[in-house]
Amino acid sequence: MRKKIVAGNWKMNTTVPEGKALAEAIAARVKEIPADVQLIVAPPFTHLVPVSEILCKTPVAVSAQDCADEPKGAFTGEVAASMIASVGCTYTILGHSERRQYYGETSQTLVKKMALALENGLKPIYCVGEMKDERVAGRHFEVVKAQIEEVLFGLSAEQMAKVVVAYEPVWAIGTGLTATAEQAQEIHAYIRGLLREKFGALAEEITILYGGSCKPSNAKELFACPDIDGGLIGGASLKADDFIAIAQAY
Ligand code: 13P
Repeated sequence: MRKKIVAGNWKMNTTVPEGKALAEAIAARVKEIPADVQLIVAPPFTHLVPVSEILCKTPVAVSAQDCADEPKGAFTGEVAASMIASVGCTYTILGHSERRQYYGETSQTLVKKMALALENGLKPIYCVGEMKDERVAGRHFEVVKAQIEEVLFGLSAEQMAKVVVAYEPVWAIGTGLTATAEQAQEIHAYIRGLLREKFGALAEEITILYGGSCKPSNAKELFACPDIDGGLIGGASLKADDFIAIAQAY
């Protein structure tokens, strides 16, 4: 049985007091979530300590949104995987399309980040997905294939077992456009097929999340697809009611 996950990527939103209030609102309603759904929140770095303190008595896990590609040292502004793990985080998002697009993150950088996250006991939520022009040109399979092969195929099976994959078509992020359940299932099945070629039966155990304007009104249809194991939620994760409603879509 694959783990079902609903993860909230807060991106660069909320002040610390606002983030604490959001975490408290989620903690207060966590009993309403099916026991087999793992909730995760990924607030900004400044919030990791207070949000972890609020959520440590609940089953909600805390994730970072990124980690450095170096273990420590003179890298001003960076936050190391070891630091993230030291405040009780158990996950980190890696390779989000906003990091790739705006901060020039490449597969080469992501290979280093992946290794450091895993070495420090963090479970990576590795994001892949095509841009709008790539989808229009029918290149989405090849784009996603390269993102998977270049970063995940160098991992051992033991490492791969700790990775969560998130498919996020860039054209659906924050745009209100959502991939149809059919489009999402098609590419999720394709990703699982790629993982099967490299890692064999382990591919059936890997959680693959959908991200991109996932909200309470479409979560049920998306989560009903056989290869969609949950969601990575942006905008809708900033409202406790919507985030909980998405998790209840299972
Ligand atoms: P939205 O849900 O706001 O489209 O964002 C998706 C996302 O990028 C999550 O990482």
